[in-house]
Amino acid sequence: MKTIFVLNGPNLNLLGKRQPEIYGHETLDDVALLCRDAAGDGHRIRLLQSNWEGQIVDWIHEARDEACGIVINPAALTHSSIAILDALNAFDGPVIEVHISQVHRREAFRHHSYVSLRADGVIAGLGLEGYAAGVRRIVSLTRD
Ligand code: DQA
Repeated sequence: MKTIFVLNGPNLNLLGKRQPEIYGHETLDDVALLCRDAAGDGHRIRLLQSNWEGQIVDWIHEARDEACGIVINPAALTHSSIAILDALNAFDGPVIEVHISQVHRREAFRHHSYVSLRADGVIAGLGLEGYAAGVRRIVSLTRD
């Protein structure tokens, strides 16, 4: 069975509690349920979250051997991390970038994404449904 990594950056451990007017009331556990449902029978989900940039880089390195694709919400690191971009550039499978909020309607500093230079698809503003859409896209790109 193939594995899809669903990686989450800083502060997303507080999903459901943090700024619910922007990010909603559902939690990362709800994200995991949505992703597992979207993955179907042929793919398993490994959902991970860290507040540390280097940990996310390490997981992307692990994905080189273990994952057929990556769904990533790098959170604030989207707008700053060349290290995450470089790690994703060393990963061969499809990468879908997800943002819960519609970042282009927010502050100007959220309009630029380093990760978008690598991402095969970018989803913003669909709430948690964006993760499920990202997983479905990876399933369709990596189905045998
Ligand atoms: C976010 C948007 C980022 O700008 C922000 O720093 C986040 C979450 C989103 O999912 O909408 O932490 O990636």
